[in-house]
Amino acid sequence: MHPARPRRRALALVAAAALLLTACSSGSDEQATAPTATTQPDEVEVFTWWASGSEKLGLDSLVATFAEQHPEVTFVNGSVAGGAGSAAKDLLQSRLEANDPPDTFQAHAGAELSDYIAAGRLEDISALYDDWDLRAAFPADLVERLTVDGKIYSIPSNIHRANVVWANPGVLSAAGLDPAATYASVDEWIVALRAVDASGRTPLSLATTWTQVHLLETVLLAELGPDAYSGLWDGTTDWAGPEVRAALEDFGTLLALSNDDRESLDWPDATQRVIDGQAAFNVMGDWAVAAFEEAGKVRGTDFTYFPVPGTDGVFDFLADSFVLPVGAPHPDGARAWLDTISSVDGQTAFSLAKGSIPARGDVSSAPFSDYQQSAMESFLLDRIVSSLAHGAAAPNGTVAAITTATNRFATGATDVATFQAELVTAAATTP
Ligand code: GAL
Repeated sequence: MHPARPRRRALALVAAAALLLTACSSGSDEQATAPTATTQPDEVEVFTWWASGSEKLGLDSLVATFAEQHPEVTFVNGSVAGGAGSAAKDLLQSRLEANDPPDTFQAHAGAELSDYIAAGRLEDISALYDDWDLRAAFPADLVERLTVDGKIYSIPSNIHRANVVWANPGVLSAAGLDPAATYASVDEWIVALRAVDASGRTPLSLATTWTQVHLLETVLLAELGPDAYSGLWDGTTDWAGPEVRAALEDFGTLLALSNDDRESLDWPDATQRVIDGQAAFNVMGDWAVAAFEEAGKVRGTDFTYFPVPGTDGVFDFLADSFVLPVGAPHPDGARAWLDTISSVDGQTAFSLAKGSIPARGDVSSAPFSDYQQSAMESFLLDRIVSSLAHGAAAPNGTVAAITTATNRFATGATDVATFQAELVTAAATTP
């Protein structure tokens, strides 16, 4: 069990000791320091991109747990709209460069953190893992993924799966398709997408470029399989090879079967079209299940889901995590936030609302939805690979370069051969 109470008591003791030290060091000038120590509540600015819709509901439930566990700390919402941090990450970078960090920020566990670590922007928080018994609470391979040169710089709040197709059974039936069908390969799936196209609805609902990169990674995974896909990120798979070429051809076909206005949409808009029955399919991480639930939709009758064709048995993984930036104005507030997001109660409340699964291994699955229970099982049984679009597989610079190349292809500026050549160059930006 997670020792939530002793941890909070320990934090309170540290805070009390700090107040005592302040009081002791104030000497004869007690008037000046005492009011500060007793009247200034701590606060924490939490920087995320969970700014609206089901993502905001997820954050809200985390904040409610935080208020119960740390009523002494005021939560300051530093969220910046834009799915997958598409706007937040640039703003964060400029704040870090201006030495104006938030008290804590959302980042993906894995390669995304490497730039911040290399730039000396993050505190080593390994000691919190020891103090709070987190090494035992999280799966060993997750802790290993988080460890850089023996140090850990973030704490995961939850785990999401990226390789999921969300479908509207009514739209599929209207197109003459079996709404319960799953597809063994992208090629088989394309046949079904064409049937939806012929029925007059949108086959594949897609949004702006980051969602296209998200789609691309799942198609690469389907075509290459988990080993060769993982090899894209450690240099052992050739980006110039024929399997990548075949994946890019499929990706082009899928783009052609998607809505033309994708650049003006973010993920909630694209998922909404499946919810509303305007489109048949959407490839999105499992935060989408929270959007279906928020709309009151029922699994089986109103929506279905299955692994992206060709990726059954593989869990395309990403984990939201939080950090303690160097120079955070309220490090005690940040530690309190980290305490909540890593606790059993915090992880339960957040994932229940967010569609994810807890990163801790000791959380009861009982209160979670059918989808989430299936994801928990898959996470234990499936091959785990790292998501590109969500920072687990490659550093920010590489993701940005792949995003630019994808946008050029999707907007018709390049053909498949040029796209592949640009991806070869983009992948080479990995340090
Ligand atoms: C991911 C993030 C998820 C979800 C998604 C859409 O990068 O890990 O928690 O917020 O973006 O915005």
